[in-house]
Amino acid sequence: MIISNQADLKGIMAIGRICALTLQHMIAHAEVGMSTAQLDRIGADFLAKHHARSAPILAYRFPGHTCISINDEVAHGIPSTDKIIGAGDMVNIDVSAEKDGYWADCGMSICMPPIAPERQKMLDITREAFDVAYNHAKAGVWVYDVGRAVEKFVIRNGFQVLDQLAGHGVGRSIHEEPSIPNWYYRTMRQKLSENGVVTLEPFISMRTRTIMRMPDGWTLKTSDGSVAAQFEHTVIITKDKPILVTVAS
Ligand code: CO
Ligand code: CO
Repeated sequence: MIISNQADLKGIMAIGRICALTLQHMIAHAEVGMSTAQLDRIGADFLAKHHARSAPILAYRFPGHTCISINDEVAHGIPSTDKIIGAGDMVNIDVSAEKDGYWADCGMSICMPPIAPERQKMLDITREAFDVAYNHAKAGVWVYDVGRAVEKFVIRNGFQVLDQLAGHGVGRSIHEEPSIPNWYYRTMRQKLSENGVVTLEPFISMRTRTIMRMPDGWTLKTSDGSVAAQFEHTVIITKDKPILVTVAS
């Protein structure tokens, strides 16, 4: 969506804040030994308290209020009573929701203690890859230039970007144009628009670039079992640095 008036700005910032607070709340309550269904319930209750509706349920009838993906699961992990968060696990929580017709999306990976050094490095590089995207994403810039910068940064630091998973427009629905791949997709000739609401979300892995979908129809895993991480914010594109939408303050 393109922000065209004060009401749009107010609406998107309101749901952005709720998504960020929900993510923060879930991270604060994530514990070793807890099931991902329990953690999802904490997020679901928090969203309900703020009168927001889960985007994955609303848009896709996803079997969970949030997506929780562990280790080699990249995204769209289904919360389950059978999935127990273990010590040292890399856990990705993705929260997207709607309120008053406005939609926002954010996510991040955390690692449960004890954190292996390579996993800590991966978390740092994922967050820095987001900063690279954030610093490149300006009105009038080609989406492939954002992806080229992210890809170069990630590979230089010894990790890989995952194919097929990309940032995207958001605001009036959960997935809108444009797509913002995390790699140099030179035929994607689209530019970022001023006041456009998009997500920036690098997905990186230890080794592979490829993902596969599990028989459950949702969960995406790395094709070689290597660990994945993601960091995502919804932002508003300007001529200068983007405005962060999914912030808790
Ligand atoms: Co997203
Ligand atoms: Co997301």
